[in-house]
Amino acid sequence: MNRMPEFTLFGEVIDANEILRVQVTDIKSLLLRKGFIIVNDISFTREEFAMFFSGFGDVVRFVTDPLAPDYKSSDVTVLQGRPDDIVAGRGQLPLHADGGTTDFIVDHLFLFALEVSTSDNGGATCLVNYRLANLELPESLRRILFGRKHYMRIINGDVEQTWKEIPVFSGMGRAFRMMIYFPFDEGQPASWECAVEGLTTAECRQYYRDLQAFYRQPRYYYRHYWTQNQLLICDNRLMLHEREPYSSDGQTRILMRGLTREPADELSGDMRS
Ligand SMILES: [Fe+2]
Repeated sequence: MNRMPEFTLFGEVIDANEILRVQVTDIKSLLLRKGFIIVNDISFTREEFAMFFSGFGDVVRFVTDPLAPDYKSSDVTVLQGRPDDIVAGRGQLPLHADGGTTDFIVDHLFLFALEVSTSDNGGATCLVNYRLANLELPESLRRILFGRKHYMRIINGDVEQTWKEIPVFSGMGRAFRMMIYFPFDEGQPASWECAVEGLTTAECRQYYRDLQAFYRQPRYYYRHYWTQNQLLICDNRLMLHEREPYSSDGQTRILMRGLTREPADELSGDMRS
């Protein structure tokens, strides 16, 4: 059973009956205050899951996600630990927020644990309350995060990909977002690499290592070990997330994922940050 650590200043556990009963607008406002919600012992078919999250906004269908070229038209992505798959694999997926292009904007992220074996503790989904963390960021990290351009490049076999600038901060009010892709840990198979304006490779590695260590402090960080029939809803504008790697044999971890974007008129009606 997952329990919110008492020192974590974010996150909420909601009863399965309640989440299906309350208004979506109330769930969204709770998410704005808490960042994420966990629901235990809830069951969904794929269709029921899609029906549930489609009530939160426009369903995002990966029109131009550079990390997921295979998911062009699905409302539900099944994450089942396929080897060699960035999004649906079982390797490390470093800290990031979903989205990154004008066609691929994500406000809410939904993960439902369809099937999970408990043979070991790998495969956690970890969340960072970056808004609080950034308020308390050491000056040396703040100068780089807020003052330098950040880049990432997909690693794709022998094909040389171009560096793409990541718009780290954008928008205002409820459309405010932080977009960042952390590099993979050394020793992990990497699907992309990162660069920062004016930093050498070694300085860049050290910067991300320090920033990651800061974000992973218990005050800002929640590590969620999955059990079957759990639902996690996360406001992608408040949180970064990552997947810890899990073993390639003996562990089943099948999650269904949905992504939604709030309609523009809902965002413009409330400019609280
Ligand atoms: Fe993600």
